[in-house]
Amino acid sequence: MSNKTKNNQNTLRLAPPERRRFRRRILGWYEREKRELPWRGEKDPYRIWVSEAMLQQTRVETIRLRYPAFIERFPTLAALANAPLDAVLAEWQGLGYYGRARNLHRAAQEVIDQDRGVMPGTYDALLALPGVGPYMAGAIASIAFQERRAAIDGNVLRIMSRVLNLTCPVDTLPAQKTIRKETQALVPRARPGDFNQALMDLGARICLPKNPDCARCPVRNLCASHKTGTQHALPVKTAKIPPAPYTLFQFRAEQNGLVLLSQRERTGLFGGMWELPGFMVEGHLEKADRRRLKAQCAKLLGPGWRPGRELARITRTLTHRKILFVVHLAENSGKGAPPASQDGRLWASEEDFRALAVSTAQRAAWRAAKSALRNLEGK
Ligand code: ADE
Repeated sequence: MSNKTKNNQNTLRLAPPERRRFRRRILGWYEREKRELPWRGEKDPYRIWVSEAMLQQTRVETIRLRYPAFIERFPTLAALANAPLDAVLAEWQGLGYYGRARNLHRAAQEVIDQDRGVMPGTYDALLALPGVGPYMAGAIASIAFQERRAAIDGNVLRIMSRVLNLTCPVDTLPAQKTIRKETQALVPRARPGDFNQALMDLGARICLPKNPDCARCPVRNLCASHKTGTQHALPVKTAKIPPAPYTLFQFRAEQNGLVLLSQRERTGLFGGMWELPGFMVEGHLEKADRRRLKAQCAKLLGPGWRPGRELARITRTLTHRKILFVVHLAENSGKGAPPASQDGRLWASEEDFRALAVSTAQRAAWRAAKSALRNLEGK
């Protein structure tokens, strides 16, 4: 029988002896070249879980610096579960994708409440936790529990699309099925966690998106795209849907040197984070509808408040949204009492603002509004 798959006649499926060579070479390379990272060699499944949750969407170089502080602040599963969500979000600041922090916190509480504080020890049980998908379950199960599971992230998709010379788009179901099956077959029974981390390091150092350094690759002779010279054109991806535009109108209300902040709902975009009070509309609006702006300002801040001049507008792109932040000054007409600090609302000093859970985008909007105000006052 031929060892070629149906996808493409140059797509090679590795035969068992090639798989053994692949494992040997990857693990040998890992021994020599692995990156020194603070979670490498860690045995505590909770700490491995934290590292993988942090690494899932954020660069290794950023996490290398932030992971030790997180672990120092929440050294155990119980410490994380017992901490208020605000403290967890504050420690997560700047890392983006805050849903990961909320899920980690909720999952820690579930483990403490339901599993007597013992982390699930298998791939299947890990998958049942909030925020744990096949990649993370595979990474934790293989690294912490030596379970023979693949951990397929973007790096591994790229590597495997090249190893297999997969010319159909990697973001389609058939390609992902092929990659899952082939990668799973490659994971060794011994040292599955090292093998998975070796692939991650290979993706970060050698099998780069642009200009893969094939001359230094330990598995180039087992790579089908290297043979055909097609590695630079892989992985093939389907056209991306551009992020949808939104406008977030916000108000900067100040009294006695304090600025009013409100906390977003726990779920959804920036859930649980603090920001200037505001409202979101679809599309990028050059100008706000003045009536709506007035109505929302009174609703969000209280009847005495009305919108003043525009202070700042900045745009930030997230994965699925491109948000235009438009900050208006809010002015108090003297009518009605100013809104008090209460649950979900806070008159905040600069110091409070620094300590609260605030997204990087919102910090930029705050800074832009503040410097516009300073310029106005200087005139
Ligand atoms: N990316 C995701 N998990 C990783 C790990 N354990 N080591 C290096 N890079 C990673």
